[in-house]
Amino acid sequence: MKVLLLNGPNLNLLGRREPGIYGSASLQAIEEDLVSRAARQTVELACFQSNHEGALVERIQQAMGQIDGILINAAAYTHTSIALRDALAAVALPYVELHLSNVHARESFRHHSLLADRALGVVSGFGAHSYVMALDGLVQHLRRKEDAGAGASR
Ligand code: DQA
Repeated sequence: MKVLLLNGPNLNLLGRREPGIYGSASLQAIEEDLVSRAARQTVELACFQSNHEGALVERIQQAMGQIDGILINAAAYTHTSIALRDALAAVALPYVELHLSNVHARESFRHHSLLADRALGVVSGFGAHSYVMALDGLVQHLRRKEDAGAGASR
C-alpha cells in the first residue's frame, strides 16, 4: 500500500514558524516519524512539500495509478485553491485533509475549506499528532477497501 503526504506553503518552516500555533517539531521530524509509523503498518509513505500551487497540482497528478491515498495539509491553499480541489477530484484518490491547528478556532477566513467536502475526513487541531491520526484513518479505510475487494473475488 502506498500513501502520499503533501504539505503546502510555509510548512517547510515548521518548528520555527509561530511555534505557539504550530508547535516545535520540524517538518522533517514529522515526516520521519510518519514514514516509520507507516512502515510498521507495511505502508510506503512518500513525502512532498512545496510553496507552489502548481508543483502540488503536478505531484497530485503524478499520484494517479501510483498511490492508494493522500494525506494533505494544503496550508493556506486549503482556503483558496480550486486548482488543488480539481486535481484531487481528477485523480479520484481517497484523501484526508489535515491541519496542525484547529482552523475553526481561528480567523473566519480559515473556516472554509475547498477540499473538505470531498475528503474522506478532516483532522484539525492536534498539532503534529494530526498527521498520525490522518494516517491511521486513511490506512484503516484503505484496508477495509482491500478486504472488501478480496472478499468479492473469493
Ligand atoms: C494550517 C492552517 C492553515 O489555515 C494555515 O494557512 C497553515 C497551516 C495548519 O496546519 O494548521 O499554513 O494548515
